[in-house]
Amino acid sequence: MQIYLGSDHAGYGMKEVVQTHLKDAGHEVLDLGVFDEVNKADYPDIAREVGEKVLENADSLGVLVCGTGMGMALAANKLKGIRAVTAHDSNTARMAREHNNANVITFGQRVIGNDVAKEIVDTFLGAEFEGGRHGRRVDKITAIENA
Ligand code: RB5
Repeated sequence: MQIYLGSDHAGYGMKEVVQTHLKDAGHEVLDLGVFDEVNKADYPDIAREVGEKVLENADSLGVLVCGTGMGMALAANKLKGIRAVTAHDSNTARMAREHNNANVITFGQRVIGNDVAKEIVDTFLGAEFEGGRHGRRVDKITAIENA
């Protein structure tokens, strides 16, 4: 599966760990930056880049890391068609896919450790949207977006 990955400076270290983990697992990963933790970056810029790539490729998912995960989610969700969820445990990561059809997962390097981050991405990528009544509800989110 194609994964688009990004972070700001506050999520850079965790983004690198996740990138290695995903590549080792055989995923196709495109790293959209940032490429160091020294230069301060504005998380909405990276959230937008990753979100736009996910919208271009319907079979892809996005992973975004910042200090808390929250700014990335707020910014990515401004793009029509992006459903970004902050998850700091694997249960919420699974539910984000199964019930909410999230196409972007975000988390915070200042909140969780690297092992939990790896569990979250594994769970998120391994889960599938259940559709049915959840599909009806997600369609209503889209309707709000298009109102
Ligand atoms: C950067 O200091 C920090 O505000 C950012 O990484 C993120 O946590 C925002 O939500």
